[in-house]
Amino acid sequence: MAADAQPVGVALEVNGEPVRVEVPPDEPLADTLRGRLGLTATKIGCGVGACGICTVLVDGEPMSGCLLPTVLAAGRAVVTVEGLADRAPALTAALHEAFEAEGGYQCGICTPGQLTAAVALLERNPRPSEQEVRAHLAGNLCRCTGYAGIVRAVRAAAAETDGASRPVAVARGEEAASS
Ligand code: FES
Ligand code: FES
Repeated sequence: MAADAQPVGVALEVNGEPVRVEVPPDEPLADTLRGRLGLTATKIGCGVGACGICTVLVDGEPMSGCLLPTVLAAGRAVVTVEGLADRAPALTAALHEAFEAEGGYQCGICTPGQLTAAVALLERNPRPSEQEVRAHLAGNLCRCTGYAGIVRAVRAAAAETDGASRPVAVARGEEAASS
């Protein structure tokens, strides 16, 4: 931050809760989540948008938290890996089980980003092909697993939860609308 830059007040939603933070104008969202809000499950790797380790959902879309300035998240809904179970309970549980069963992680540093990106994919496409999983996760690098276990895990979770992968808020809204 430039020496004369003043902190900026930013209001956003994080894991379903309204949050207000005072941040330097150039502070990345990943730093705000980890350093100011204590949400340290989001990891930081390259810091320049190349590895996907810092992936969070912003209005349902996977984004690199190391690239997005927090000021640009104002008014938006952010979900971190800590909030996935509330957003998509069955899907998140199935992904956790499948990553373990299929060898989807080793050191685990990339896993929060992989899980977050996988939730975004399966909410949109409940039964992705292997190629679709690989394409969607292409920006989430893993230097341990060779990717095969991750791809198997995402497809296994998809098979386990077919039709149950919509965000809870969306499902609730549809139920309310049809009743
Ligand atoms: S730490 Fe954000 S993309 Fe690598
Ligand atoms: S499990 Fe180690 S980098 Fe992916």
